[in-house]
Amino acid sequence: MTPTQQQQSTSYNKCLLVFLLQAVFAFIFFTYIHINATSTQLEEVDSTPFQSKNKNERIVTILLWTWPFGNRFPLNRCKNPGESSGCYFTADRNDYLIADAVIFHHRDVCNSKSQLPQVQRPSGQYWVWFTLESPSHSPNLGFMDNLINITMSFRSDSDIFTPYGWLEKHIVEQNFTIPEKSKLAAWVVSNWNPYSKRVKFYEELKNHFQVDVYGRLHKSLPREDMQKVLSTYKFYFAFENSQHRDYITEKLWTNALSYGAVPVVLGPPRENYERFIPRDSFIHVDDFQLRKNLQITCWSWTKTTQDTNNTSNGDQNCGQNQTPNGLLITAKHASC
Ligand SMILES: *[C@@H]1O[C@H](CO)[C@@H](O)[C@H](O)[C@H]1NC(C)=O
Ligand SMILES: *[C@@H]1O[C@H](CO)[C@@H](O)[C@H](O)[C@H]1NC(C)=O
Ligand SMILES: *[C@@H]1O[C@H](CO)[C@@H](O)[C@H](O)[C@H]1NC(C)=O
Ligand SMILES: *[C@@H]1O[C@H](CO)[C@@H](O)[C@H](O)[C@H]1NC(C)=O
Repeated sequence: MTPTQQQQSTSYNKCLLVFLLQAVFAFIFFTYIHINATSTQLEEVDSTPFQSKNKNERIVTILLWTWPFGNRFPLNRCKNPGESSGCYFTADRNDYLIADAVIFHHRDVCNSKSQLPQVQRPSGQYWVWFTLESPSHSPNLGFMDNLINITMSFRSDSDIFTPYGWLEKHIVEQNFTIPEKSKLAAWVVSNWNPYSKRVKFYEELKNHFQVDVYGRLHKSLPREDMQKVLSTYKFYFAFENSQHRDYITEKLWTNALSYGAVPVVLGPPRENYERFIPRDSFIHVDDFQLRKNLQITCWSWTKTTQDTNNTSNGDQNCGQNQTPNGLLITAKHASC
């Protein structure tokens, strides 16, 4: 092989690998959220854009070095070796020497180099650095500097982008009925830090606005009841634990959007959210700070639901048809 040919083949291999990892992780991700948050509407969307195109391609072996936070999930997106899915996904460390790529979940290995493979890396093997946690909750971030080849995270500029959720077009148009609403606003929070932006915002807001708080130090809400309870609220506070670019979690995708509540978001800036969901499908906490004397209580659910009937309300880039009818409850008039 000439150096150029070799380069081409390396970058081709890398493309294939990135493609397969994307497929596998898209699937795992659904599974992961499924385990964590029970079934959701968004998950039911058929996600089949991830099929190996080259059936005769050699099998790529991908090794998951640790189960993320010890959570196991089925590895059945890649079929068994010999079947023609193009990839073989395994969590058996005995496969290390034959693996084309090894995925390291940051938080499971970042304490010590002794948690990484102790045998020399086979040539051509890619190491993939994977995280779902924000930088604020990722200690020892430089731990794998100069060791990894591919990044995989919630950041859209990762080599492999693994967001917590996304919008997809339904193949058949769906009728979506907004769940019946009897309560105003809910927030589920387990990590209560009095100095965090989200708790400060809540402390200010609660003087004007009835917010039911669930979680470890508040009302209890068993996971299996989340959908039933949260869907009776008009608004859901999708407040992230820290503010970082693209760090938008299942709090938005599952707890708010798929349960049919208008998301009130606190996280990265509004423009960042608008890259992923239509601009009038959520309320950003910064929308309030624009108005000093805002009467928050003037939020009107009637107004917001009426707007969902307006089919020309869809975002240009993310047309109305891409979302279940009415799922994106428009909030643009809701902040008075
Ligand atoms: C992956 O990165 C390591 C460390 O920088 C490097 O030694 C190795 O050659 C890279 N592997 C591939 C397949 O590019
Ligand atoms: C949606 O509702 C309309 C009116 O009730 C009905 O005609 C149509 O068949 C329904 N579509 C689906 C996909 O259920
Ligand atoms: C939505 O539009 C339909 C058809 O124009 C109308 O019959 C219905 O009353 C509207 N619903 C609301 C909540 O405005
Ligand atoms: C529907 O939404 C479009 C776009 O936002 C707006 O121009 C139009 O006036 C709305 N129609 C009604 C009846 O609210």
